[in-house]
Amino acid sequence: MSVYTNRESLLAALTPRRKSKKIGFVPTMGALHQGHLTLVNKALEENDCVVISIFVNPTQFNNTEDLEKYPRDLETDVALLKSLGKNIIIYAPEASDLYGDSITATDYNFQGLEHEMEGKHREGHFNGVGTILNIFFRIIEPDNAYFGEKDFQQLQIVKKLVEIENLPLNIVGVPIVREKSGLALSSRNKRLTETYKKEAVLISKMLKEVKERFASHSISELNRFVKETFDKNDQLALEYFEIANEKTLKTAIKKSKNEKYRAFIAVFAGEIRLIDNMALN
Ligand code: PAF
Repeated sequence: MSVYTNRESLLAALTPRRKSKKIGFVPTMGALHQGHLTLVNKALEENDCVVISIFVNPTQFNNTEDLEKYPRDLETDVALLKSLGKNIIIYAPEASDLYGDSITATDYNFQGLEHEMEGKHREGHFNGVGTILNIFFRIIEPDNAYFGEKDFQQLQIVKKLVEIENLPLNIVGVPIVREKSGLALSSRNKRLTETYKKEAVLISKMLKEVKERFASHSISELNRFVKETFDKNDQLALEYFEIANEKTLKTAIKKSKNEKYRAFIAVFAGEIRLIDNMALN
């Protein structure tokens, strides 16, 4: 396993492998957990070597405090990845290695996907994600890149990015990894107090309830049920709950027979923002 902090040394290691080896890529912002390790293991199964980037991307944060407080622990991340085998390359660059002198985001048109849910609450977020991934994809030139379904909207947008930028790579979505309690794994969970962590279990519990009730209740009944449940909880603040079409991500008002739906939720546990989602049919 090797750790590179600039693109020249990364490329010197990658280029000779490119001819004969399949390269997998797992982009991360570090503070790795079992969800990330699941992505890396899947990538290791399907490729000859796997590049994992560790970079907290400033252009995707619309909140300076969130960016400053985002957990960072490179040493622990490297130790965790080391345990997964030797066909691993870590790329942990500084912003200047990726952005040069100008840390700015490209203005993308993701055909409406960027205006739904997270897009309404985190202005410019998906331009930042699209920009950094386009930079990474062009440096690393992976055959396959792996993304968790916890950021389901991000996954759909990355597929669109690859189409827009005409990049020759395959995007692989990997199911959400949850704690036994149901809480979806997230680097942000590291910032939760024990009390908030216990309370936050309500998020996945509500998604499961909605899934169970989906066939027998209308969408407005389900929306009301979730809102009223969170209104009664004084530790968690619901930012949004939406049932949306899985493909277009547009808010669903009524169910149509042949469409697939997913429930999406964002909740504040104190100042920590948590998101989750679940397929409903
Ligand atoms: O999902 C994340 O951790 C980030 O959005 C990503 C894909 C690493 C881009 O910075």
